[in-house]
Amino acid sequence: MSIDYASKIPNNVDLGSNKTLQRALEHWQPRYLDWWREMGPEGSLAHEVYLRTAISVDPKGWAHFDYVKMPDYRWGIFLTPPEEGRTHAFGTHKGQPVWNEVPGEYRTHLRRVIVTQGDTEPASVEQQRQLGAICPSLYDLRNLYQVNVEEGRHLWAMVYLLHAYFGRDGREEADEMLQRRSGDADKPRILGAFNEKTPDWLSFFMFTFLTDRDGKYQLAALAESGFDPLARSTRFMLTEEAHHLFVGESGIGRILQRTAEVMKELRTDDPAALRAAGVIDLPTIQRYLNFHFSVTLDLYGSEVSSNASIFYTSGLKGRFDETKIADDHVLTGSHYDLSVVEGGKLVTQSENALLTLNERLRDDYIVDCQAGVDRWNRILEKGGAAQRLQLPHKGFHRKIGSFAKTFVSPEGEVLTEKTWNERASAWLPSDADHAFVQSLMGRVAEPGKYAHWIAPPSRGIDQKPESFEYVRFA
Ligand SMILES: [Fe+2]
Ligand SMILES: [Fe+2]
Repeated sequence: MSIDYASKIPNNVDLGSNKTLQRALEHWQPRYLDWWREMGPEGSLAHEVYLRTAISVDPKGWAHFDYVKMPDYRWGIFLTPPEEGRTHAFGTHKGQPVWNEVPGEYRTHLRRVIVTQGDTEPASVEQQRQLGAICPSLYDLRNLYQVNVEEGRHLWAMVYLLHAYFGRDGREEADEMLQRRSGDADKPRILGAFNEKTPDWLSFFMFTFLTDRDGKYQLAALAESGFDPLARSTRFMLTEEAHHLFVGESGIGRILQRTAEVMKELRTDDPAALRAAGVIDLPTIQRYLNFHFSVTLDLYGSEVSSNASIFYTSGLKGRFDETKIADDHVLTGSHYDLSVVEGGKLVTQSENALLTLNERLRDDYIVDCQAGVDRWNRILEKGGAAQRLQLPHKGFHRKIGSFAKTFVSPEGEVLTEKTWNERASAWLPSDADHAFVQSLMGRVAEPGKYAHWIAPPSRGIDQKPESFEYVRFA
C-alpha cells in the first residue's frame, strides 16, 4: 500500500495498471488545477507554505512536512489498505462479503452519496478563499492553507471513485464538481451551509469546529459502507479531517483565552468596553456559535427520511461507530426517539429507527460538539470568566426538517413567530457584529506575531518554534 509519488497522480491504488482510468484522471487534473487557480486561496499561488503531505496511509506518522507552493501540492488518491475478509456490518446484506464493484441496483443512490460528499470539499475552499488577506498570524495562515489543500484532496478522493466505478456519468459528475460555485445564484453548491459566506476568522474557526465536524460524522458513516472503495477512501479522509477540527477548536479556544485575559485585566464583561479594547466579547462569540451550529445541523437532512433508510438497508451508509453498537444492525424492529414541536410544545415521539437515521447521526454529532464546548468553557473558567458558551437547542433556527416551520429559542422554548422576530437579533450575529469582527481583521504576517484578539497557540506545527516562518511570501 505504499504511495507511488513517481507518477503524475500520486496514488496507492496501482493507477498505472489501469491506463484508461489513469488517462481519464490525467485529463481531469489540469481542470482541477484551473479551478484551484481561479477559486483556491486568493493571491497565494507563489507562496511557499510549510505543509504536510501524506507519505503513507498509516494513521501514525503519515505526514511529511516541507515548503510547497500550493499549485505543486501532490494531490492524489490514498485509500486505507483493504481489510481481509471484510463483510457488510449492517443492512440486508449483513454478513456477506463487501462489494468491490458498484452493485447495479444501488448505483444511483451510491453515486448521489459520493457526489453530495464530494461537492462539499471544493465548496469550503471557495468559501475560505479571501481569508488569507486578513490572517491573524503566519501560523494561522498556514493552517488555513493546510485545510484548503486537504479539502482539495478530499475532492480527489471522491472524483477517483466517480471515475473508477461510474463510467461516463461518473466523469460528468466529476466535471460538474468544478463548475458549481459556493454561493452562486445559478450554479450553487449542493448543500446550504456550503453556500454561506466565511467572511472572517471567527466564522472560519466556527466553520472548522462545526461544519468540518459534520464532515467527520458523514465520513464516519461512509467509512462503514459495504462498498469497500468508499469505506477505504473515507477512512483515510478522516485522518486528515482531525486536523481541521483541531484548527477550529484551538482557534476559538485561543480567542476565548484572549478575551478572558482582557476581561480580567479590565475587570469587565461589558461588550462595548471589550470591543473598545480590541477583543471579541463573549455574547458575539455565542451568536456566531448559534448561527454556525444551526446551519450545520441542517446538513443532516430531515429527521424522518426514507432515503436514509434506503442508504442503510442497502449497506451504503452506516451509523457512526456502527460496528461498536450492540444491536442487530438491521433495525427493522427498532425505534428511535425524536423531539418534535406539537401543539406549541416540544414532545418526544418514537419513530422507526430506520427512518430516523439522519436524526441519530445528528444527535451523535451534537454530543461531540458539546464535548468541544465543554473544553472551551474550561478555558473560560481557567481564565476567571463567569460566562459560559452553550450549544443552542437543536430546534433553534432550522431551515430543514420538522423544526423548519417552528420558532424555538436557543434554550428550547417554543415561541410564536412574533416573539421570535422580536428576540432573534439577540441570538444571531447582526450586521453590526459582522462589521465589528471584520474591523479586527488586520493582516498579521510577521513570524511570531499574532493579532491582538487571539492568543498564540500553545505549540507550533511540527514542533516548530514560535518565530517559525510558516509561509514565505513570493
Ligand atoms: Fe473534507
Ligand atoms: Fe475538512
